[in-house]
Amino acid sequence: DTDTPTNAPKLGFNATAKSLADVVTVPPGYSANVLYALGDPIAAGVAVYLGNGSETGASYAQRAGDHHDGMHYFGLGNDGKYSLTESGRGLLVMNHENITQSYLHAAGPTSVGGVRTVEDEIIKEMNCHGVSVVEVRKNPAGKFAVVSDSTFNRRITPFTDMDLNGPVRGSKFAVSKLSPAATKTRGTINNCANGYTPWGTYLTCEENWKFYFTRVAGDNTNPLRSASDNAAFARYTINPGQVDNFNWASMAGDQYQRWNCSVTGSSANGADDFRNLPQTYGYVVEIDPFNPTSTPRKRTALGRFGHEGCWPGKIVAGKPLTFYMGDDVAGEYIYKFVSTANWDPADANKGMTAGDKYMDSGTLYVARYDADGTGQWLELTQGKNGLNADNALFPFTSQAAVCVNTRLAADSVGATKMDRPEWAAVNPLNGEVYFTLTNNSSRGNASMPLDAANPRRYTGTAAGGVPGTGGNINGHIIRWRETGDNPAATSFTWDIFLFGSRAGYTNPAVNASELTADNDLSSPDGLWFAPNGQLWIQTDDGAYTDTTNCMMLVAAPGKVGDGGAATLNGQSTFKGKSLGTDLRRFLVGPKQCELTGITMTPDSKALFVQIQHPGENGNIAAPGSNWPNVSGDATQAGTAGARPRSATIIITKNDGGVIGV
Ligand code: FEO
Ligand code: CA
Ligand code: CA
Ligand code: CA
Repeated sequence: DTDTPTNAPKLGFNATAKSLADVVTVPPGYSANVLYALGDPIAAGVAVYLGNGSETGASYAQRAGDHHDGMHYFGLGNDGKYSLTESGRGLLVMNHENITQSYLHAAGPTSVGGVRTVEDEIIKEMNCHGVSVVEVRKNPAGKFAVVSDSTFNRRITPFTDMDLNGPVRGSKFAVSKLSPAATKTRGTINNCANGYTPWGTYLTCEENWKFYFTRVAGDNTNPLRSASDNAAFARYTINPGQVDNFNWASMAGDQYQRWNCSVTGSSANGADDFRNLPQTYGYVVEIDPFNPTSTPRKRTALGRFGHEGCWPGKIVAGKPLTFYMGDDVAGEYIYKFVSTANWDPADANKGMTAGDKYMDSGTLYVARYDADGTGQWLELTQGKNGLNADNALFPFTSQAAVCVNTRLAADSVGATKMDRPEWAAVNPLNGEVYFTLTNNSSRGNASMPLDAANPRRYTGTAAGGVPGTGGNINGHIIRWRETGDNPAATSFTWDIFLFGSRAGYTNPAVNASELTADNDLSSPDGLWFAPNGQLWIQTDDGAYTDTTNCMMLVAAPGKVGDGGAATLNGQSTFKGKSLGTDLRRFLVGPKQCELTGITMTPDSKALFVQIQHPGENGNIAAPGSNWPNVSGDATQAGTAGARPRSATIIITKNDGGVIGV
């Protein structure tokens, strides 16, 4: 019976106060230590990080990257294979989403007249993106450390060869100078959140990849660009005149010129340039951490958008597997993929072969949330729901066209535009799905009216939080239960679990969830269920950072339907649950960081969390943070003037017990 038990254990710690200190703060009785920070070596013979930008770009192929993000712990058994129960030795696999450029270089970045002039700086910046696989192991004193010379250690970067799998493989959309047969691409970029599979592989997701491409002015008038090419690029806002984030494409050589997606060749199909290369990014990428020489595979059947993450639904033997995904842009959508094959536990150690079976063939859906508290999964299959060659938005002549232009397909079927869908988490006690909607400054504008699932628009600056302009600045968390508790169902019932707000806001349309000083939050982003059913919430906020650094909270969340109905801003919707002491702030991070990435050992006694981009608004002349302390104690301030480092921290209870209870 999926109703038993109905809730997680009570929270067993005192709330941590909001803070602007440049340290990690955890409740009494807990410790927090740095495990794996920017620049840390992951191979024998690589020198320690010095904190002055002197390390070479090439050396970062064997060092921790920057902006640690989504992460998963895979137990590593004595046989070298995935173990669901091993809590003393594991592979920690994590994303490096982005960089804080200034802190990486001795003095840089160097550029002359808008052209990057130091190749090693670009190599370093590219190598600081991607994914780390690191072995972690408890030492004889019972403390986890990275095994810095493990043969499992690996960096995957924008230079790593990737296979294209699923419907886009071999299609015209992926033809490039790198792979005229459209079977491969190179690298992964802006790896935000993540997921994992029951066969022991890691899923890394490409989020803000579009910012890494240059497209010259006038590219849309090139006769080799069709009208549908231009419509597709426009929907993904890869616009003529756009310059890539770090101007990598200003350097000569294909490794850098590939970030320029303008038509530069003369072939009809793009086989002599990189015009189609953006259509090989924006996917869920599968990595087998147990096979360090394996080639990652982009699973194109799961669609192409600003993939935040990819979280498995409840896993049931003999039933299809499901994955939940969000497109983190204001007004974008929530998706679900349902495998064609039914889950066979005998596939649990088959690595990428199992990925081919369960992730290359299936059905993609997008969510519509109706005002009566029910919802529908709308199928995105070529030939159905108007996804045909004569569709007004795009000629959907194949499933590849749907998988490349997923946003246009979702527009066409009438999905619900959401307030920036970030992470999903699936309640292990009852299979309900929770999804963070981090914020949306455009909500309530003419292009994005209020609806039952996205019902807030207010200034947030006036006393009491008076509804007005400014959109949904504090975000909320929606949740749903699939019909019949069947993860593959095409309908569901939903409510709103929680509205972010300052505790001081008295307007009931703002602090609808009645948050207090012990649990108020803004901009929920990271979301994760512990095995005991406690829900961990991480924030990435700009609206409350005058008062507190970003934070992590824990809830005992209840279930769909236990939050009351409410009318907010004229929308008939849900109030959010009054959680009281069932929601408490656990941790506050150092200055200018985001809390993201979360995983535990199977025994729930070691919690791994990412401190992403502390001091991100500063530079080497004036660092925005000096965290971490050289001792590795995450609760201590760093040395004045020191460069901050993104890092994985490990949290343990001083009595060795289970975290959170
Ligand atoms: Fe990379 Fe939407 O967070
Ligand atoms: Ca995020
Ligand atoms: Ca965010
Ligand atoms: Ca961030």
